[in-house]
Amino acid sequence: MSQQLIDDFGRTVDYVRISVTDRCDFRCVYCMAEEMTFLSRAEIMSIEEIELLSRAFTELGVQRIRLTGGEPLVRRGLVDRLQNIGNLPGLDELLITTNGSQLVRYGKILKDAGVTRLNVSLDSLRPERFKAMTRNGDLNKVLAGIDAAREQGFQRIKINAVVMKGSNEDEVLDLLEYARDKQVDISYIEEMPLGNIDSHNRALSFCSSDEVMAMLESRYTLHAMANKTAGPSRYFRMADSPIRVGFISPHSHNFCADCNRVRVTVEGRLLLCLGNEHSVDLLPIMRTHPGQIEPLKEAIIAAMPLKPESHHFDLHAEPQILRFMNTTGG
Ligand code: 5AD
Ligand code: SF4
Repeated sequence: MSQQLIDDFGRTVDYVRISVTDRCDFRCVYCMAEEMTFLSRAEIMSIEEIELLSRAFTELGVQRIRLTGGEPLVRRGLVDRLQNIGNLPGLDELLITTNGSQLVRYGKILKDAGVTRLNVSLDSLRPERFKAMTRNGDLNKVLAGIDAAREQGFQRIKINAVVMKGSNEDEVLDLLEYARDKQVDISYIEEMPLGNIDSHNRALSFCSSDEVMAMLESRYTLHAMANKTAGPSRYFRMADSPIRVGFISPHSHNFCADCNRVRVTVEGRLLLCLGNEHSVDLLPIMRTHPGQIEPLKEAIIAAMPLKPESHHFDLHAEPQILRFMNTTGG
């Protein structure tokens, strides 16, 4: 499949993350406000539009698609037809980021539809704290979901833990022990200033990847792996476990130079950079030309020069990005 998505800085886009719903059964404090107004059916992409979009991207050389949310598994009708995306020619990997609450029910369907890897968000192993951080999540359901997914034999399962001071920073090692025990990968994430949030002060709760690393190194020796993935992640190994330990550091380590990805919001807005507002509205194009792939492909190609060279997050300033993570999708 030919690579047609190359930006003005010579970066090839071969990875796209698509948010398939802004809704979620959780309300994580760093992701959502307590009271959220969600979008209506007409404002968001239909399942058919998500499929058309996925096909357009694969025809333009995209090899990996990640479905995110909100919580992708609460999007009605998605899972039943997921293989339409999983089977797209040229697609190497179909990935899903989930909160894990419904993996007991959907793990097998996801595997059968062609999902190769799962990211499961898990910030705490203490039921009360988990409930507080997610504002209503049931830890036991998520842990059962991870176990169910492990039985399905996905290529990889990765835990994503957002680390916040005054909240779950004391669980950094416990989470590592959990990952080692279950033989799943784990990434520690620095909180990003997306959306205005009233539950905590981000400058105070910010916990850098370097600080997390120091906590892990109090118990284990971590060996850096050769950096294969473009993006904000760095990965490490331990001598006595097969798992990978990652750090997602949008603040402290500049990864823009080899950024290979774009995002599409649930409203069909193509975002060229997570940390900037540069975007193109693809929904009107899909609605004007229903089911037609060429106008959509042309619009995506035409958007590439909008991809900015780099981004900058400032914890002390007002959030520059007013959209929440649940419409953007990680
Ligand atoms: N900063 C960092 N990570 C976030 N996530 C959601 N909101 C934020 C934020 N503001 C994470 C979730 C999940 C993934 C989809 O993004 O924990 O792992
Ligand atoms: Fe839901 Fe994920 Fe946002 Fe938490 S971080 S509220 S699980 S979408």
